Order: sequence, then C-alpha cells, then structure tokens
Amino acid sequence: MSKFWHSKLRLIIIIKKSFRKIIAIIILFFKYLEVIQLKENFRALIIKEDENGNITKSVETIHENYIPRNEVTVQVLYSSLNYKDALSSSGNKGITKKYPHIPGIDTAGIVVESKSDKFKVGDEVLVTGYDLGMNTFGGFCEYISVPSAWVVARPEHLTLKEAMAFGTSGFTAAVGILEILNAGITPDMGKVLVTGATGAVGSSAVSILSKLGFQVIASSGKESEFEHLKALGASEVINRNTLVDTPEKGLLSKKWIAAFDTVGGSALSYILKATADGGIVTNCGMIGSTKLETSIMPFIIRGVRLVGIAAAETPMPMRLKVWERLSTDFKVDLSDKFYEEVSLEELPSRIDSMLAGQLKKKVLVKM
Ligand SMILES: NC(=O)c1ccc[n+]([C@@H]2O[C@H](COP(=O)([O-])OP(=O)(O)OC[C@H]3O[C@@H](n4cnc5c(N)ncnc54)[C@H](OP(=O)(O)O)[C@@H]3O)[C@@H](O)[C@H]2O)c1
Repeated sequence: MSKFWHSKLRLIIIIKKSFRKIIAIIILFFKYLEVIQLKENFRALIIKEDENGNITKSVETIHENYIPRNEVTVQVLYSSLNYKDALSSSGNKGITKKYPHIPGIDTAGIVVESKSDKFKVGDEVLVTGYDLGMNTFGGFCEYISVPSAWVVARPEHLTLKEAMAFGTSGFTAAVGILEILNAGITPDMGKVLVTGATGAVGSSAVSILSKLGFQVIASSGKESEFEHLKALGASEVINRNTLVDTPEKGLLSKKWIAAFDTVGGSALSYILKATADGGIVTNCGMIGSTKLETSIMPFIIRGVRLVGIAAAETPMPMRLKVWERLSTDFKVDLSDKFYEEVSLEELPSRIDSMLAGQLKKKVLVKM
C-alpha cells in the first residue's frame, strides 16, 4: 500500500475511534442529566389514616409539589428498612404525628437541587436520622428534601449501596461498639453478647464485633437462623428464651465482658447481672419491653456500666467519625448474605414481616 493510502487509512481509523468516544460521552452526559434532575411525577410509599383510624400503605405516583422543598433535594437511589419505619408505617403516633406520610429514616442518593454552598448538584450523599421519615417525608420515595445540616457526603470507601446495607441499623451498631471500645474492652478480656441478633441492628453488631476479633455470643429467637448467625461471625448462638431474669438474685455467674442489647426489659436485667467486672452493656432498643426492673448490684459490686444509644441525634462531628469507621475497620462483607434487596413495591410486605418479628435479614430498598 502506498504511503498516501496508508496514512489515509490511519486517519479514518482515528476518526472512527474518536467518533465512538464522542458518542459515548454524549450518551453519558444525557444519562447524567436524566439522573440529576427532579422528575415531575415519581413513586413513594404513602401511609394514610382514614377517619376511623385505619392505616393503609401503598406505593403511589405523586407530583413533585407533594414534597415540601428544603435546602437540599436528593434523588434517592437506595434506602433501608428500620424498626422505626415499621412503627411509622403502622400509625404509631410516638413516631409520626400526622398522616398521610412517607416513612424512611435512611437515604443514599444524588443531590438534584441545592441552596447550600456545602453541597452541589451531582454530589453523592447520605441522610440518616434526625427527623427524616418521622415527621419529615422520608426515603421510601424517589426524592427527599432536607436541611443541609442533615446531609453527609458519601464516605470515600463506601458506595451508596454499601452505606444503605449498613443504614441506621449499622450506624447504631457502630455507635454502640465504639462505646464498648472506648470503655477499654478488648477481645482478650472476654466474650460479647448481642441480642436480637437476626435483626437489622443485631446482625450488624455481630458482623462488626466479629471482624474486630471479638468472640460473639448471638442471642436469637429463630433457631432456623443459627447457622446464618455463625456465617456472620458469631462464635456461639443461644436461644433468646435463656435470657430470663431471676428477680430474687442480684448477681449471676459472669458470662460476658460486654453486651450490645437491642431488647430491653427482663433480658436486659439478666444481661447486666451476668456481666463481668468492669464490663459495659449498651442498650438501643426495647423490642422486649420498655421497662427495666433490675438490681443495683452489678453497678456497685462489679462496676458494670449501662450506656444508652440514641443514634438519630448523633452530633455531626461524631456522625462523620462513625461513617468513617464503617467505611474502614468496621466495614464487613456487605454481600447479599448480609441483606435482602427489595423494590419499593415489595417493601410493604417486609414491613409487615418486621412488625411480626419474622424478618430474617436486613432489608435494602433499591428505588
Ligand atoms: N436507639 C437507637 O438509636 C436505635 C436505632 C436503631 C434501632 N433501634 C431500636 O433497636 C431495636 C432493634 O431494631 P432493628 O432495626 O434491629 O429491628 P428488627 O430488624 O425488627 O430486629 C429486632 C429483632 O429483635 C428480636 N425480637 C423480636 N421480637 C422480640 C421479642 N418479643 N423479644 C425479644 N427479642 C425480639 C428478633 O431477633 P431474634 O429473633 O434474632 O431474637 C428481631 O429480629 C428496636 O427497638 C429499634 O427501635 C434504636
């Protein structure tokens, strides 16, 4: 082939390659535009209350004006299901005062509108806790709009999906585990008990503690899930009906150096009495009972400490530290053995299962 034709052929190949690249860039640009703009109509899980107090939940198409606009509006790509969402979805006025309502205390997505100079359109962000999903429309919707003070930039080593695989439940587990670590508890000091272990918070706590090298005793009421809990890292699984208090005794034989309790009530009293000297018990939940009748003996004889966890109100500097730990040394295998991924349409049935105490895995919602 002559030099002339050879260089022409090369030119044609270069133009063809560049053309493909330009087309790919144009397609990407339009896809980007499609993502980062607020749609006029979109889907949400709406909870309604009729005049007789009956509560219904259904996925509906709503107009963008349905969502009151705040400083930062986020297109929700993932959310996750928490017990508070289940309570809000069942008309619990302690959580949500006014219906119709959109629950969802967890959100990960992309900023589509911003009046704040801290966040710009296209930023990947997380919003969890504060009033989201309680009396502010929440993440079981394609969009949320919230104050900028609630928004966290996606941590560098966590995808949006991974962040929601953790969600508020993983965040709560991390806050409790930091309390245990800050109390100076190390794996060589003894075992750590986790109650409600198949639950969203409990399963996160089991996974993180075992990753940190602790021997974890998981307490669960679901014998069919004992093997799953071992796969998450529990070294021992016990039936939750063994954690029943004996009110006449002030102390019990020492079984663990720390406990992460999600249950409360009689189980919490038992747990305190069976905690070894200098140990710590954190409590974040009250699935068993909101009442605690116990003895002061664990506190004054063994120096046991009881620490309450209120994750939703975690101040921003601490919040950033917790997400940082979740994206580094607390990061566990966030594969589908850790959660079940569902659509918005599948969510109502999972809410019912959660209320019935029958969920076997955390629920990740893909919008
Ligand atoms: N304070 C905070 O910041 C904070 C944050 C998040 C959650 N929470 C609270 O933490 C608790 C757990 O939340 P979650 O999202 O993990 O809920 P979840 O996914 O519904 O799990 C709760 C687990 O508790 C166990 N359980 C169910 N009924 C029980 C009963 N009657 N007695 C004892 N155990 C029972 C079950 O596990 P097993 O069958 O394995 O025993 C169940 O899977 C809730 O009370 C929630 O409100 C608090």
